[in-house]
Amino acid sequence: MNTRLSAIHADITTLRVDAIVNAANSSLLGGGGVDGAIHRAAGPELLAECRLLGGCKTGDAKITRGYRLPARHVIHTVGPVWRGGDQGEPELLASCYRRSIEVAAQHGLRSLAFPAISTGVYGYPIDSATRVAVAATRSAIHGHPSIEEVIFCCFSGRDLSIYERYLSETISI
Ligand code: AR6
Repeated sequence: MNTRLSAIHADITTLRVDAIVNAANSSLLGGGGVDGAIHRAAGPELLAECRLLGGCKTGDAKITRGYRLPARHVIHTVGPVWRGGDQGEPELLASCYRRSIEVAAQHGLRSLAFPAISTGVYGYPIDSATRVAVAATRSAIHGHPSIEEVIFCCFSGRDLSIYERYLSETISI
């Protein structure tokens, strides 16, 4: 497998990749955090396309165009709200990464960037979330060799150091 996995410290709305992933809510009609930043940078056409999608279930993913973003597409996924960790949160978070990669591959996309889904407003502890993100991504790209590059886009230096630690380890979930 030749897919390159890396972590960077950046604003995901600046990345020129085939798709950036949005940590959305199930309405897909915008919100705060990275969702708000993506909608602001993409422009109102993004919300107009999202209105046609009929929402998205937690753990699932849907694709739109990127409009004014440097990224060609946005893959909108809905992470779980953290409720202590025994309400299926790890499985649902893993599903976000798996479904986003499946949707990307189905559309012939080769490069994508993820934010740290669920770790902001939704309260998922960053350490556990990173472990799931890296393991689920490694597992999903195995079945989709057309995906060449996955970037974990961290919004803080602390998040970046946690991603770098898990990327340097061989782990599975
Ligand atoms: N680039 C990269 N990462 C970012 C950016 C950015 N521009 N802005 C924030 N982050 P959050 P969630 C990081 O709260 O926890 C919204 O209202 C942020 O530091 O955006 O999945 C939705 O509509 C954190 O590490 O998403 C939902 O209602 C990560 O992105 C809800 O929030 C995720 O934080 C989703 O909550």
